[in-house]
Amino acid sequence: MAGTCVVGLQWGDEAKGKIVDLLGDTFDLVVRYNGGANAGHTVVVGGKTFKLSLLPTGVIRPNVTSVIGNGVVVYPPRFVEEVGQLAKAGIDLSNGLVLSDHAHVIFPYHMEEERLAESGTEGKIGTTGRGIGPCYQDKVGRRFGVRVGELLRPDHLRERLGQIVPFKNRLMAAFANGHADTLKAFDPAAVADEYLGYAEQLRPYVADTSRLLQDAVKAGKRVLFEAAQGSLLDVDHGTYPYVTSSSSLPSGIWGGSGLPAKHVTRVIGVVKAYTTRVGRGPFPTELDDGPDGTGERIRRVGREYGTVTGRPRRCGWFDAVAVRYTAALAGADEITVMLLDVLSGLPELRLCVAYDLDGDRRTHFPSDAYELERCKPVYETLPGWGEDITAARTLSDLPAAARRYLDRVSELVGLPAAVVSVGPDREQTIRV
Ligand code: GDP
Ligand code: IMO
Ligand code: MG
Repeated sequence: MAGTCVVGLQWGDEAKGKIVDLLGDTFDLVVRYNGGANAGHTVVVGGKTFKLSLLPTGVIRPNVTSVIGNGVVVYPPRFVEEVGQLAKAGIDLSNGLVLSDHAHVIFPYHMEEERLAESGTEGKIGTTGRGIGPCYQDKVGRRFGVRVGELLRPDHLRERLGQIVPFKNRLMAAFANGHADTLKAFDPAAVADEYLGYAEQLRPYVADTSRLLQDAVKAGKRVLFEAAQGSLLDVDHGTYPYVTSSSSLPSGIWGGSGLPAKHVTRVIGVVKAYTTRVGRGPFPTELDDGPDGTGERIRRVGREYGTVTGRPRRCGWFDAVAVRYTAALAGADEITVMLLDVLSGLPELRLCVAYDLDGDRRTHFPSDAYELERCKPVYETLPGWGEDITAARTLSDLPAAARRYLDRVSELVGLPAAVVSVGPDREQTIRV
């Protein structure tokens, strides 16, 4: 089996990092194909916590080659910082990390553009502020996009930034509307100096990763694709416009890595036993029930605060309508149900089995966020369990109510649960 994809089926933070880590030693390469440092993947191994934003989770496994594909948008200071942090933890990446020369580069003016766009009251998405959207806009717009390979040619980079930066300064000044006092103007030569410094640190890692992946598959190597974000944040199929700017579904693999989709033969859909969302946008099963409510309890027990921005994540019940929709789009073969332990102690649990839209019962996910906004969840209620389940290692260690909950989730989604996670550590895992 050449290619497997691990993809989140909700709004991100489904604990994909833990699943990628668990699978890590059964693969030769781990590849990121979308997003950038907006992702935050936490992996806990033997009590030691690793937080990765830009680098694939594979980097913490020895003998795995980690690849940052062409579909990723790269912020060089973050790349350097993460490599440095791992070196401090004793992880040497000199042979284990490859960065696509086709990946687009995030510059400080991308962050500034995003800050301006997000500081108004209208049209805010609630982004991570990492320059992701503006960088992808430049990529698709073609005039201002700069790729990693271009960083390595000093005269060329200076010339390009000499054209781009003055234009960006004018654009932002025109766009600053009420923020002119805080607006940053950029000096092309200073940006070039800074980025040429990073370029020398990036240079040893840069390669044509599409060819590398194609050769790896020919040589019988096994490749794991690690999606960033979640399927409901996919730019095409997610809750547009409250999405990220890349294809987080496995459909992004071909474009974002250069490896044809036919090589991806297994898709693992990762879900939380409940739902979370960071940023704005509709969320029908959200539990906005105050400081003593269930939403706050899930947030506290599940430590539901963003890895990247520290923002409290919005929490709610499991939404089977949404997951059925994304599982079909992803072509998921199985699901892994994460953070089940967080639900321990709740007297009863709810599962959203349909939506009510103006009195009509809907079992299909609506095609846009404006319609989703008007959907009310239709719940089925199941009994909870009181026991701490963090030490469970087999299904039979779980209370009957927890097994029943899992069975119902699996039945509603229409896929088997291959893994159940009962705690952040690699060991706190039930393989079904
Ligand atoms: P990702 O972005 O999909 O990789 O997920 P994040 O790392 O952003 O968020 C998942 C969080 O849940 C991380 O802090 C994990 O350490 C933690 N985690 C993973 N699995 C479990 C679990 O089964 N139970 C609990 N309580 N925490 C978990
Ligand atoms: P991981 O990989 C959860 C959300 C942001 C915002 C929207 C757009 O850890 O699952 P962006 O900065 O991408 O333009 O923001 O997408 N978002 C995430 N939410 N997990 C993520 O990544 C996310 N990456 C982006 O909160 O709502
Ligand atoms: Mg995350």
